Amino acid sequence: MREEVVLITGANGEIGHGLIRYLAEKNSSIVAIDVNPLDKSLRSEVSSWIVGDILDQILLGRLVVEHQIRVIYHLASILSTKAEYNPETAHRINVEGTLNLLRLAVEQSNWQGNSVKFIYPSSIAAYGLASLDEKKQAGKVKETQFTYPTTMYGCNKLYCENLGRYYGRYYRQLAADSSTNPSVDFRCVRFPGLISAETIPTGGTSDYGPEMLHAAAKGLPYQCFVRPDTRLPFMVMPDAIKALITLQEADKERLTQDVYNVTSFNPDAEELAEITQAAFQGAQIEFEPDLRRQKIVDTWPEDVDDSAARQDWDWKPDYDQAHAFRDYLIPAIRNRYAPSHE
Ligand code: SER
Repeated sequence: MREEVVLITGANGEIGHGLIRYLAEKNSSIVAIDVNPLDKSLRSEVSSWIVGDILDQILLGRLVVEHQIRVIYHLASILSTKAEYNPETAHRINVEGTLNLLRLAVEQSNWQGNSVKFIYPSSIAAYGLASLDEKKQAGKVKETQFTYPTTMYGCNKLYCENLGRYYGRYYRQLAADSSTNPSVDFRCVRFPGLISAETIPTGGTSDYGPEMLHAAAKGLPYQCFVRPDTRLPFMVMPDAIKALITLQEADKERLTQDVYNVTSFNPDAEELAEITQAAFQGAQIEFEPDLRRQKIVDTWPEDVDDSAARQDWDWKPDYDQAHAFRDYLIPAIRNRYAPSHE
């Protein structure tokens, strides 16, 4: 009998780290894929880890044969800033990669006679507000509003939300056997910027938040690439993991949407700098906006409406802004760079 597993793509990334630790504690058998060798500290937490590319069909075919995959957390992605340097490559990884995983989920669902759960992290990059005025006036935006992304990453995320909806509800709808085959159980969380105490993201445009904090803890000066009045929604990593797990476990009957906003707090960059300077005495933070990256964050909403998630699957973040910095980020980041850890 093949082992029942949870498959995690992009396992080495920010979310992968937190998710693997959480699932391992719950004794889940995890198969982790990443283009780089899995972080040494995570290796004992998984059943197996594979260095590979989600565009490699042979590798994915092998996974289907070797495992009974119950849940897929498809985290692999090229983030928004990095994607702008090579949009076609980003498209291949973000979209074709997702298509490959959805196809794998269909095969597994058919073979098992049960819907495989496909948990997908989307992003505030799926939004595109036309101007700063519109951003200010819009306030908390709903999932269906302002979905006119201006980055390749945002276009990819929005399209993959739709691909997931298609695979979940309409896949091969004209085929003779379409009603007898189980579909993929697609569930998507649209994340705000994420901040983790453990890892620093690479290639994102909301990265000024985590970068500022980690630099201060290391005693390094930081040039913030957005204006002080730049406001975005953020969330700490434990709440991001909570959102993925809670949506995964939610009763299907209660889910009225395929895609749900989640958020917890939304400081502007100046507030982030003040909190950081208060926590790390002498932290040098200067604002040197990169006008092109600024333009991207100016199209992202200053807040999102997550009432559907609250209603349908009882979503509630554990950390508000004060609690997030005081009880999670500052002590954990301080500890991470403490001399005894070097
Ligand atoms: N953190 C992501 C990025 O900046 C947005 O979801 O690309």
